[in-house]
Amino acid sequence: MLTVDLRSDTVTRPGREMLEFMFSAKVGDMVLGEDPMVNELEEYAARLFGKEGAIFCPSGTMTNQIAINIHTRPGDDIICSKLAHIYLYEGGGIGFNSGANVTLIDTPDGIFSADEVRRAVQPDDPHKPRTSLVSLENSVNRGGGAVWPLEAMEEISRFTRSLPLALHLDGARLFNAIVATGITPLQFGSMFDTISVCLSKGLGAPVGSLLIGNREHMERGVRVRKVLGGTMRQAGYIAAGGLFALENNIDRLRDDHLHAAAIADALSGVSWVQDVMKVSTNIIIFNTPDDIPATSITARLRDKGILANAPTVKSIRMVTHIDITPEMVSYTIDTIRGLSL
Ligand SMILES: Cc1ncc(COP(=O)(O)O)c(C=O)c1O
Repeated sequence: MLTVDLRSDTVTRPGREMLEFMFSAKVGDMVLGEDPMVNELEEYAARLFGKEGAIFCPSGTMTNQIAINIHTRPGDDIICSKLAHIYLYEGGGIGFNSGANVTLIDTPDGIFSADEVRRAVQPDDPHKPRTSLVSLENSVNRGGGAVWPLEAMEEISRFTRSLPLALHLDGARLFNAIVATGITPLQFGSMFDTISVCLSKGLGAPVGSLLIGNREHMERGVRVRKVLGGTMRQAGYIAAGGLFALENNIDRLRDDHLHAAAIADALSGVSWVQDVMKVSTNIIIFNTPDDIPATSITARLRDKGILANAPTVKSIRMVTHIDITPEMVSYTIDTIRGLSL
């Protein structure tokens, strides 16, 4: 029986070519700024987004938390969607690391307008926290991999610059959004003050994320990374996986999107699925009818070798990625169609 692991695009393992590139990396002490591969990766990412610098970190949680820390002071307010990873899934890091507060925007897919941001900015009143940062997520993990239209991001960017407020992008899956929309890394670089991208999700590297921004923000980021324990030593071995991923694994994300669309299509035709969120990238989120708990479906799928997550009692999430082959997609579709409750 095939095993098809659709729990997340974080479950990927490096392939042979990536591993060979990692083994052959020239490394040094990153704390001393002497790891050539880390330096090359950071320079590559900064150039790609048209920014002055980038810092390599162990995780996307850390790059987001560093960004929050450099853009806020204790007691400040951050505007983000109620679905944002920084709010829901980073262990309360906004409060723990930065002592900051949040104002949440209510949105079904994590996408919101400049007007909603304007309404969420706190008044200039000593009773209120001081709004200092707006954070977007693209693609939106809890929004079924939804992607932001360019105009919405541009309007928010113009608005935040007018105040000014800092604008951060949690781009854990930004390359999925780039491939799906054609918006370029340089366009993203021009709209946002800081951008976090993960190398360890759809891009297929085993470890690592990058925070990208201007020199002043990156200098402060290096200090915060140190405090958080994220400065590594001969990290070039893992940075090499990231560089390999950026150079080789972006265009192929299109295949993951086609795979996700095909699986979503099969799901929309079966009785145990109530509705499927619009699929724009590699994430499929669907709801089960009221009388069918999501875990009863994930258990039945698991019996057939298909692994999926049930983030809530009625919803199931599947994510396609580099280790999912066309054969696995066909098997998944046949299994979905054949599963009757
Ligand atoms: C949207 C988003 N941001 C940030 C992260 C955090 O990344 P990491 O797991 O590397 O800490 C994730 C992880 O899944 C994510 O989905």
